[in-house]
Amino acid sequence: MAKYKIALLPGDGIGKDVMEAAQIVLERIGLDAEYKEGDIGWEFWRTEGNPLPDRTLQLLKETDCCLFGAITSKPKEEAEKELIPELQGKQLQYTSPIVRLRQEFHLRTNLRPCKAYPGNPLNYREGIDLVVFRENTEDLYAGVEFHPLPSQLQNLLVELHPNMRRFAHVPEKDIAFSCRIITREASRAIVRDAFEYARQFGYPHVTVVEKPNVLRHTSGLFLQEARKVAEEFPEIALREANIDAICMWLLKNPLDYGVLVTSNMFGDILSDLCAQLVGGLGFASSANMGDHYAVFEPTHGSAPKYAGLYKANPIAMILSVKLMLDWLGEKEKAKALENAVAKVIRDGKVRTYDMGGTHSTLEMARAIADAI
Ligand code: NAI
Ligand code: MG
Repeated sequence: MAKYKIALLPGDGIGKDVMEAAQIVLERIGLDAEYKEGDIGWEFWRTEGNPLPDRTLQLLKETDCCLFGAITSKPKEEAEKELIPELQGKQLQYTSPIVRLRQEFHLRTNLRPCKAYPGNPLNYREGIDLVVFRENTEDLYAGVEFHPLPSQLQNLLVELHPNMRRFAHVPEKDIAFSCRIITREASRAIVRDAFEYARQFGYPHVTVVEKPNVLRHTSGLFLQEARKVAEEFPEIALREANIDAICMWLLKNPLDYGVLVTSNMFGDILSDLCAQLVGGLGFASSANMGDHYAVFEPTHGSAPKYAGLYKANPIAMILSVKLMLDWLGEKEKAKALENAVAKVIRDGKVRTYDMGGTHSTLEMARAIADAI
């Protein structure tokens, strides 16, 4: 029996292309693993009314961790229109399968390293080394949203909060409402993960990114917890920044930052910015980790216009494989893989379209495999 069981969920669009690339590299690295492919994504929404079928959840429960490509999601009305005729009018609700995976398996930590590998023509500046820790289960992603806003809730809010009074007379069909849910437990956990990472890899500070001057209660609570956790790590400085200001500072002085920690929505935005500083979505890997399970995926989506063309840069996916190897405790293999990626970037002979080259997804994967 193999040492590990790993689920592979290619998903939609370029998710399939980059998964093929990951498999080339995995084969070469010689991980003692059994791989099981599963269904996820738009096709299963259209034909079964569920983009994350129960059989896929079952498959994940039987594996150690999962590699995931990307999925397509579309706004409500379009999603309903694309259902097969048998499923039309059944009031089916589309929920993002990756958001659901994060919640079902309690993958509370989203780790997104953004490193400028020397020789990457897309580096915004040499030497950038940012690591974003994004809380992965709550905030605006908790999925507690209303439209129309039920009148009981509207009335209660008007009664409880003076700022709600000016919305008291908006008809329920003309108001949408979303809850930003932040708990102490989740805030503490993500901040602690960030500090532990900083300690392990020698970063001198952790920057907590929120907006407590406006979101006084939600960002306020996150920050309170961050300050408490920071006391357990006296050798690492806690820095505080607002989400808007940090976007400016990261462009101005990206070398001043290292580990960044924030809540779910801000983390989503911040990690795209950080990704762009080191070459864009083709380089941005991520890990969604809980205490017992983890899902590794490139930050990018399904990029429908490149689907099946084998143009996408697989490095984001391959660096996600590297994160998986780290999580499994296969440190040497992880290092070897990262070194191979760095070497191919440095040599500059094989480049996908985003890097100004003409090589395909699979040619890049083979070059990396050959450099291992
Ligand atoms: P996207 O990430 O799919 O693509 C945006 C653009 O970035 C692409 O058109 C392409 O120019 C570039 N790009 C992305 N990945 C690349 C790669 N590996 N190599 C080179 N260039 C790359 O984002 P978009 O267009 O906003 O969304 C497309 C679909 O993906 C939507 O349905 C969206 O909902 C979904 N999505 C899924 C995610 C996931 O599976 N976790 C995350 C983000 C979006
Ligand atoms: Mg995103």
